[in-house]
Amino acid sequence: MRTSFQFSKALCCVVAMLRATSLAPAETVWLSSLDLAQMTSGWSVPKADLGVVGKPISIGGKQFARGIGTHAESKLRVDLGRKAKRFLAKVGVDDSAGNQGSVEFIVAGDGKTLWQSGLVTNGTPAIAVNVDISGVRVLDLRVTNGGDGSGSDHADWAEANIEMVEGAAKPVALPAYEIISLQTKNFTLNLQVGDDGRLYQHAIGADAGDSEPHRWNEACPQSGDGYIWEPSLQIVHADGNTSTTLLYDSLTRTNETDGREMIRIRLHDPAYPFEAVLCFRTHRDVDVIEQWMEIHHQESGPVKLERMTSSSLLFAPTNLHLMHFFGDWGKEMQPTMELLTPGTKVLDSKLGVRAHQFRNPNFILSLDAPPTENSGRVIAGSLAWSGSFQCAFDHNGRSVRALAGVNPFASTYHLKPGKVFITPTMIWVWSSAGLGDMSRKFHAWARDFGFRDGHEPRTVLLNNWEATGFDFDFNRIVSLYDPAKAIGTELFLLDDGWFGNKYPRVNDKAGLGDWSPNHQRLPNGLAPLASEAVKRGLHFGIWIEPEMVNPKSELFDQHPDWVIRQPKRELELQRNQLVLDLTRPEVQQFEWRVIQDVLSVPGITYAKWDGNRYLTQPGSSWLPADQQSHLWIDYTHALYELMAKTAKAFPKTELMLCAGGGGRVDYGALKYFHEFWPSDNNDPTVRVPMQWDYSYFFPVMTIASHVAHSGNRPLHFACSVAMSARFGMDLDLVKLSPEDRAVCAGAISAYKRIRDVTQLGDLYRLERPHDAVRGALNFVSPDRSRAVVFVFQLKDGEASPVRPLGLDPLKYYVVHELNPAPGRADLAAEGKSITGQDLMSSGIIPTCSKALEACVIELAP
Ligand code: GLA
Repeated sequence: MRTSFQFSKALCCVVAMLRATSLAPAETVWLSSLDLAQMTSGWSVPKADLGVVGKPISIGGKQFARGIGTHAESKLRVDLGRKAKRFLAKVGVDDSAGNQGSVEFIVAGDGKTLWQSGLVTNGTPAIAVNVDISGVRVLDLRVTNGGDGSGSDHADWAEANIEMVEGAAKPVALPAYEIISLQTKNFTLNLQVGDDGRLYQHAIGADAGDSEPHRWNEACPQSGDGYIWEPSLQIVHADGNTSTTLLYDSLTRTNETDGREMIRIRLHDPAYPFEAVLCFRTHRDVDVIEQWMEIHHQESGPVKLERMTSSSLLFAPTNLHLMHFFGDWGKEMQPTMELLTPGTKVLDSKLGVRAHQFRNPNFILSLDAPPTENSGRVIAGSLAWSGSFQCAFDHNGRSVRALAGVNPFASTYHLKPGKVFITPTMIWVWSSAGLGDMSRKFHAWARDFGFRDGHEPRTVLLNNWEATGFDFDFNRIVSLYDPAKAIGTELFLLDDGWFGNKYPRVNDKAGLGDWSPNHQRLPNGLAPLASEAVKRGLHFGIWIEPEMVNPKSELFDQHPDWVIRQPKRELELQRNQLVLDLTRPEVQQFEWRVIQDVLSVPGITYAKWDGNRYLTQPGSSWLPADQQSHLWIDYTHALYELMAKTAKAFPKTELMLCAGGGGRVDYGALKYFHEFWPSDNNDPTVRVPMQWDYSYFFPVMTIASHVAHSGNRPLHFACSVAMSARFGMDLDLVKLSPEDRAVCAGAISAYKRIRDVTQLGDLYRLERPHDAVRGALNFVSPDRSRAVVFVFQLKDGEASPVRPLGLDPLKYYVVHELNPAPGRADLAAEGKSITGQDLMSSGIIPTCSKALEACVIELAP
């Protein structure tokens, strides 16, 4: 059935077509025949063929039968379809203004001023306008208040008409402001060009009507020319001018595949050859917008970039909640939630390397109330940058600007003419249905664009770190392989301690930087170790920390100037080590050689790339004195080049991103990697909430989780927790009791059954574990035929039903507990076939009720 809405829409189309075709040869179109509802007027409404007070148009005592009467400030935009020739009118202040009224008339075409009246006052005879508008797409007719307020500014466009080329369609009045709409399935970001040529943003969460372009609503505010809050861009021009004005220049929109669109908005400074391009890539189906800025210029010398954000979206200020994450070594990703209040809230890192040790560049804004899993408008922000970052939330009482980008702290960047500075990408993910929906969309985006091989399930890994630490040799490592194979693991990762000869790496005090296998421990190098693993059907991986050096190393003996340090200051060590200066070409070559040499060893198909300290003395002996402030940014760019080269040269080698635990967790680096190491804290009671929090932004297949003895928790509980992420083990298998070995073997075999569901399926977070008796989540396969439910009991409680989400309500699922804990009664629903609807409404009673028990339930056809 056709709705009246569809009908009126169809009618409008017919009318529009009739209008479009109704013109005979070269025509004069009276301006007053256009849709004046689109025209703005500072008082009353514009009138066709009358003055704004409703009497005949009269200028300087002369009456005009045709034209438009309006009032400053006034604006009419007309789409000419590039088919017009001339614009003609007689303009002046209407005699109804009495002895008052002073205005200026402006005719602009496609953003360029074509004609200006200068100040026109009451009584002045009508001024003739005759402007060539050939080739113009959008004609813009404006009346300003003449600079003295708009009282009595009655203004007439008398006899105004447009001469069109022969056969052209009739021009169409457009909405007064050009709206640039960025759209995904459920989210719209509206930008608009103001009368002053600046670009404005309609605050996210604000009412549609509240779209007046005030300076505090600028889309990319610049410092030094009127904007008084936290700017997005602060620069010093080559001539020392500290102000910038950015005016809208042009827009390009390019459709990419699969519902993606690239939008580039060019802004320019009218007084300098300086441009900033706001770049957006929208991903329609997953409500993701990626945003960054490209800055370039042709000034007479370098321009100093003092602050250059990737994004600075505006939000309505009422009830805006911010969830962010702080931490430390072993305590990464601790959530905190607050209502944003007036003032500026800054979340930042000044660490340069291992930059996320204390704070993470990921946050969530919730528009209506504190965020919840299954309802409410939320937007996640994630800055793809592994260096020092700054996220600032500037609440000025009228709006909240969420600025994100490289940290401006001590980071002035001298940009040479002709060079382009590209800011890191900010990723925004929207949902109107809470955190769960937001995360599922984020994960879908990430599988395609955020990390490598996002559609291929991962192997089960065994790491020797917890088993041996630094204390091993060839035989000890090989002795771990058969038990590893027997229990079902598929990949062996050799951690720290395999290298260094003059200064053997037998603890963390020496050897870092000397990447030759230790002759005593591994007399024949790494290859035989790898080949022994491969012989047994195990993949082999290796730990490296290419960016670092111990002062006790041959590398430091030879190249003390290769490290980042401040001259005249005592060296400050962290974990007995220093960071190599990656801005230095020899260091870039050295690190690339190390990576190539290690990853080229036959049989190595996995690497853990670590980085165990941050910068505290940011001095480079490579960068010139006036460019020391480039270190933070240039380091990160050089690091990305190295990572990109590694990913390209070793496309089949899986990579884990690690930095002394979760010190480097962001999509800037992760796109070259497969997974990350969230924390050195393997205690499963800590991991349950921590993995929950990481999962807001990262799919669980990227979140490495290893079974270890940390915290001395029951291994069944530890295995269940690790199975809910990217499963691995950090155990001395030989020392396990037969019961524990059986629990681990059972977990591995169960995991192999369900890993396609947990790794490639959709995540539903069910029961938040923080300060709670238990936590629960479930995964659903993309076709919704299978699911896995995890329940983690953190304190003693009751075995109350857990209610999964995302199932097909009509499908039957057979309930089966995976790898049940020895000695516990069977699941009450074991073997039963139950509809998705019943499972979701009535739930399943798990087998766990006491602290440190867990229950993993498979739902399958
Ligand atoms: C860091 C990592 C650990 C381990 C050690 C080795 O701390 O986070 O997992 O690899 O280094 O030195």
